[in-house]
Amino acid sequence: MEQYVSVTPEEAMQARDGVIKLHGPEGFDGMRKAGRLAAEILDALVPHVVPGVSTEELDDIVREMTMRGGAVPATLGYRGYTHSCCISINHVICHGIPSDKKLKDGDIVNIDVTPQLNGWHGDTSRMFLVGDVPVKAKRLVDVTYECLMLGIEAAKPGNYVGDIGHAIQMHAEKHRYGVVRDFCGHGLGQLFHDAPEIVHVGRPGTGPELRPGMIFTIEPMINIGKAAGKILDDGWTAVTRDRSLSAQFEHSIGITEDGCEIFTSSPKGFDKPPY
Ligand code: MF3
Ligand code: CO
Ligand code: CO
Repeated sequence: MEQYVSVTPEEAMQARDGVIKLHGPEGFDGMRKAGRLAAEILDALVPHVVPGVSTEELDDIVREMTMRGGAVPATLGYRGYTHSCCISINHVICHGIPSDKKLKDGDIVNIDVTPQLNGWHGDTSRMFLVGDVPVKAKRLVDVTYECLMLGIEAAKPGNYVGDIGHAIQMHAEKHRYGVVRDFCGHGLGQLFHDAPEIVHVGRPGTGPELRPGMIFTIEPMINIGKAAGKILDDGWTAVTRDRSLSAQFEHSIGITEDGCEIFTSSPKGFDKPPY
């Protein structure tokens, strides 16, 4: 049996090995504000994600907007990571490090931001299409977004974490795409990464039961080819082993009495491309 504990905002800061936190109204309020800022940052990037821009320039914009919003980028200094977001291009699965590399026509790009506002973490990512993108790549991006939303539909009391993974896996594999196993969604709140793990594959009715007050991300990474990945020598960048294209979307959500609340929806309606 998993363990659950109801927490106050103060207790939400404590690491508790494997125990799943149930947050109250103050936690949901904190997440709503952090999530909104995270979504606004991604909204503001839309006009900047064009051929010729370097990923470092985009990282600068993320850092400035995060600070202007009264937050700090949670990734800055996180386990030695020195940037304000992750930018993952084409066959990069996740954790792409901003650099002087420039975006080019036809790229598909994930930008993942996590402002920490008043202690709470808003963790979200979206795909961006750079210029003219081939139909095959656009289809991957569409299906990956559908996977996220199907996972979110399964996120309700009475269901289990395995129901979320199952919904995602069924949809991705129907399109003969590979679901990445090496990274998963996670509990979050005053901690960036907390219990439980939200694996993006699974069997219905397995894993922890979903209860009101749980707060976590769903962030499926889907590959056109095989699921396998590897980490480059920089220690961060995860790429597909077969160099096939990979896409990801991420929302931070909270389980409510009758379903869930998405904290990171786009105020501008830019939830999925084209924007
Ligand atoms: N935002 C990522 C996530 O979705 C974590 C990035 S950690 C970093 O969990 F150090 F790579 F930035
Ligand atoms: Co996350
Ligand atoms: Co993220």
